[in-house]
Amino acid sequence: MARYIGKEMSRVDGVAKVTGKAKYAAEFAVPNVAYGFIVNGSIAKGAITAIDTQEAERVAGVIRVFTHLNTPKLGPKPASNEQAPPRGAQEEEDKSFRALQSERIFFNAQPIALVIAETYEAARFAARLVKVTYSPEPHVTDTETVREGARQPKQGPPPKPRGNPEEAMRNAPVKIEAEYRIPIEHHNPMEPHGAIALWQDEKLTIFDKTQGVYSLREHLASTFGVPPENVSVVSPFVGGAFGSSLRPNYYPALTAMAARELKRPVKVVYTRTQMYTGHGYRPYTIQKIALGAEQSGKLSAMIHEAVHNTSATEEFNDNTTNFTRQVYACPNLFAPTRITNTDLSTPVWMRAPGAVSGMFALECAMDELAYELNIDPLELRLINYADVDPESGKPWSSKALRECYRLGAEKFGWKDRKMEPRSMRDGRFLVGWGTATGVWGAFQRPASATITLRANGTANVASATSDIGPGTYTMMAMIAAEYLGVKLEQVNCELGDTKFPRAPSQGGSQTTSSVGSAVYGCALAIGAKLLELANQDAKSPLKDTAADDIEMLDGRLQRKSDTSRFVRIADVMKRHRLAEMTETHESKPSPERQKYALLAHGAQFVEVKVDPDLGTVHVTRVNELTACGKIINPKASHSQEIGGVVWGIGMALQEATEIDHRYGRIMNPNLQHYHVPVNADIHAIETSFVEEDDKIVNPLGVKGMGELGMVGIPAAIANAVFHATGKRVRELPITPDKLL
Ligand code: MOS
Repeated sequence: MARYIGKEMSRVDGVAKVTGKAKYAAEFAVPNVAYGFIVNGSIAKGAITAIDTQEAERVAGVIRVFTHLNTPKLGPKPASNEQAPPRGAQEEEDKSFRALQSERIFFNAQPIALVIAETYEAARFAARLVKVTYSPEPHVTDTETVREGARQPKQGPPPKPRGNPEEAMRNAPVKIEAEYRIPIEHHNPMEPHGAIALWQDEKLTIFDKTQGVYSLREHLASTFGVPPENVSVVSPFVGGAFGSSLRPNYYPALTAMAARELKRPVKVVYTRTQMYTGHGYRPYTIQKIALGAEQSGKLSAMIHEAVHNTSATEEFNDNTTNFTRQVYACPNLFAPTRITNTDLSTPVWMRAPGAVSGMFALECAMDELAYELNIDPLELRLINYADVDPESGKPWSSKALRECYRLGAEKFGWKDRKMEPRSMRDGRFLVGWGTATGVWGAFQRPASATITLRANGTANVASATSDIGPGTYTMMAMIAAEYLGVKLEQVNCELGDTKFPRAPSQGGSQTTSSVGSAVYGCALAIGAKLLELANQDAKSPLKDTAADDIEMLDGRLQRKSDTSRFVRIADVMKRHRLAEMTETHESKPSPERQKYALLAHGAQFVEVKVDPDLGTVHVTRVNELTACGKIINPKASHSQEIGGVVWGIGMALQEATEIDHRYGRIMNPNLQHYHVPVNADIHAIETSFVEEDDKIVNPLGVKGMGELGMVGIPAAIANAVFHATGKRVRELPITPDKLL
């Protein structure tokens, strides 16, 4: 009987977070710290011809103004890039953009100087006095204009067709073809990115907002040419990141450079506006989809081609079309993702990267096909249900999507839907009901953790993983408490520090499967060790007990199959003069996983009400059903899925980073003009889990679920808007102007 796993637990770090005890990167008190303020350029492409820092340097309290003229060369040297969560990411050279390395300008608002002063105010004031002249060159920031030049990215799966999609498309009795667009979007976490760096001789300590302390360590080691062990990264709390701290951003290296040059601790924090160019973003994505089907609704051909932008300096690819290969049973398919250069900063993974974009297009296209065929959109999905992985032919390790569809339809009341657009009303509002499918991977990566169990029954759990907000501290504590048989309050967790055992970056919804498995493995190792120690006593009641037949509970090590046979853990430790015992465990994805296809799935049902005079859309009701293995902490997990729905509403109706292409400059880099949902935009959201008993995916049976919650929502909303209005909006966000 599980005491913690599967139970609703409040987050163990909640009180620390709301009382301000939890320290975020820029909040650490470091004596003698100097403050840096970044100066951003104002052209999109070209070169700096002159930069005058004299006036800035004369400001009281200014210590140094770094520009490309007095900044040492920083990396890059080859480094591993292990932070990539989605598939297709491989080892690659760390070519991430490093600031102040030359007079060249690659994107608008590129950092061109860093002012260091005794106070933040002095640095910020002096930053305005730096004078720059440029020699501008023609730039391209509109992905539409460079769409034709799109190329296959080096990273990612090759675009191999399945079957003969073109011929199948020609022969299909029913077909639809459409193009969909997603603008650039930004993550906008609450906590602005920031770092404090200090050097002691050749050793760097950096407090940084990061999703991966080890990947940042490697980036900085390669940047400064020091061994990775010389770099300590500390990141115990992260106020949201969503992918924006997965790849190296330029400010940690810049901060550490200044600290090294000045032989003094330096702190740099982005302003909200600097975040729009200081970390990545969801790329501008154009998708063309053609679907061919029989009259029965069976798909015979799918051609899904995506193009998105990258920067001129780095190749980024979010594998937009990747999941299309596995969603529906279809023998003929072509689904490439191509990239094209723009003179913007480099995009990055953003919540449900690739998946939410690709599934927006695919799931809208499925709705269009449903209308072409006059088949209920949910029915069309069931007709094309993939009982095995259509890509590999492998069986699923588990897939409860059918039950998600069934239960979701029942909860939502889908059977009362009238097929005809504009056929449902609530007073003067047009009512629309839409559905879509969600999909995400069930990733697992090698991860390590360590547990120290003390004779007094308390335990300490540590792993280097970040907790960017989903409740990782709590998950670790729950798993440890469950398998050590102690109380949750007896477990202390530590994370987000390179002094702890290696763990993957937190991203891609893989932490519980990876780090949770490592914590579980540590607890088992402690049990096995205790059994061995206990059985050194000839009179041990646990003689001849198999290691997998023992468990720890309430201070006892006992036989699972006969709990009257036990030893007291404290007694065993005392007899062996142990005040505590420590086990470190590395968990790895099992070879068994190779034999199966592993995905997490979801189904979404959405009601919108559209004001026919104003074109405003209200998402009045959402039922989201997800099947993502075992749920460790339903409270935190529902929060993840609700958050996914809210973000999906933002993506569907509000979010867009607007660029003035004449200057290649972002026009709305702030929370006043970049719209995200507020409380008034959010109505009834019900999330439900259809739990899967999956012994293949990992010992805990967990799949990724955080990113999953968002996938499908924008499509379901767009489909509901079509149902309400008869207008098919294929370009996000669906703002009132597009409906009038
Ligand atoms: Mo994940 S892209 O780090 O939200």
